[in-house]
Amino acid sequence: MKNNNRNKIKNGQVKNSLLLICLIAFFVSCNNAKKEEQNKVVSTNNVSINLDKLIKDCENQLKIAVPKLTDLTKHPRLIDTDKKEWKEVGNHKLIWTSGFYPGVLWYAYDVTGNERWKNEAIKRTEVFEDFKNITEHHDIGFMMFPAYGNGYKIGGKKEYKDILLTSASSLASRFNPNVGTIRSWSNKMHPRWKQHITIIDNMLNLELLFWAAKNGGDKKFYDIAVKHAETTMKNHFRKDLTSWHVLEYDSINGNVLNRHTKQGFADDSRWSRGQAWGVYGYTMVYKETKDKKFLDFAQKLADKYISLLPEDMVPAWDFDVQSNPKEEKDASAAAVVASALLDLSTFVDNKADQDRYFNAGVKMLKSLGSDKYSAVGKADSFLLHSTGAKSLGHEIDVALIYADYYYIEALSRLKKLESQQ
Ligand code: GLY
Repeated sequence: MKNNNRNKIKNGQVKNSLLLICLIAFFVSCNNAKKEEQNKVVSTNNVSINLDKLIKDCENQLKIAVPKLTDLTKHPRLIDTDKKEWKEVGNHKLIWTSGFYPGVLWYAYDVTGNERWKNEAIKRTEVFEDFKNITEHHDIGFMMFPAYGNGYKIGGKKEYKDILLTSASSLASRFNPNVGTIRSWSNKMHPRWKQHITIIDNMLNLELLFWAAKNGGDKKFYDIAVKHAETTMKNHFRKDLTSWHVLEYDSINGNVLNRHTKQGFADDSRWSRGQAWGVYGYTMVYKETKDKKFLDFAQKLADKYISLLPEDMVPAWDFDVQSNPKEEKDASAAAVVASALLDLSTFVDNKADQDRYFNAGVKMLKSLGSDKYSAVGKADSFLLHSTGAKSLGHEIDVALIYADYYYIEALSRLKKLESQQ
C-alpha cells in the first residue's frame, strides 16, 4: 500500500514536474515569440508603407506615359510645373539624362515581371549605343549604366557587355593621374573654370568602372575609381561633412584651386542633390571595394544628411535655403538617398545602424509615395516637386526623370529586402 502510495506520489510528482517543465517551456517560447513579434513589429512597423501599392502606382503611371512616348530620337526629361506630360529632349551626347528612362523601364520590369516593360526598355536602351564613345564629359556613366548596366543585370542582356566595357574605357580616359580624379566637365561648356573640374556628382559614374573591372575590363578601371573616391573624400568635403559641388584642380600639380557651385544656392552652400550624390556614391564605393574607410565615410555623410532633413524627409533644393518654406523641394535628392540608405542598411553590422538607415530610407519612400509628392492623378511621372537647377533659373519644382529612376530603384531594393525577411 505504502509502496503504491509512494509510487502514486512519485508518479504524481513526475507528472507535476513534467507539467511544470511544459509550463516553463510554454512561457519561455511565448516570451521568445513575443520578442520575435516585437522585432518584427519594429521592422514591419517601419515598412508600414504599402510597397505593392507604390509599385502598382508606378506601373499605372507608365501605362499612361509610355504610349505617348513614341519618338525614339528623344527621351523624357521633365514635366513642367502644373503640366501633365513629359517634355522630351533629344538623345544627344551632351545631355546627361538619356539613360534614366530606359533605366526606369528596366526597374519596372524588375519589380513587376511584366515583359511589356522589358521590351520597351530594350527599345529605349538600344537607341544610343554610340554614346559608348563619349569622351567629352563624365556623364557617360549616368547615361550608360542605368540603361545598359540594368539591361545586363536585370534583363540578362549579356550582349551589352562590350558596350559597357567600351563606355568604361571612354570614362577612364578622362582620369588625370596628376590630380587623382576624373575630369567631369569641359572648360568650353563651363568657362568659369580654366583647369581640371571635378563635381561631386561624378561619384556615381564610378559604378560603371567598378562593374567593368569585375566583368572582363581592364583592372586599372578599379584603381581609377578608388583613387577618384579617395581624392574626392580628401578635398570635396567640409569639416562638417557637407560637400561643395564643383572643385577646380590645377591640372599639373593637383592642388585645389577653387571650391564653387553651379547648381547650388551659393559657392559655400549645401546643394541638396550634391549631398545626395555623396551619400549614394560612398555607399556604392563601399559595396564595390569592401574597404571600411568608405563605409565609415558613407555613414558619416548619411548621418549628416539625415540630421539636416525637415519633417517630411524631402529637402529643399539647397539646405542653406531650407529655413524659408517658400523655397522649392528637391524630391530627386530624397529618391537618391532613399535608395542609398536601403543599401547602406545592409552593409552595417550594428542593429541600431541598420534600423536607422532602413527606417530613414523607408520614411523617405513613404513621403515620396504620399499625395504630397506622388504624381498619381496629376501628371505622367511617378514623382513631383524636384528641382534641377534653380540657381540657373530652370527646372524649378518640376518632375524629373532621374527622380523617378532612383525612386523605382529604391522600391526595387526594398522589395528585395522584404523578400529576404
Ligand atoms: N548630375 C547633374 C545633376 O545632378 O543635376
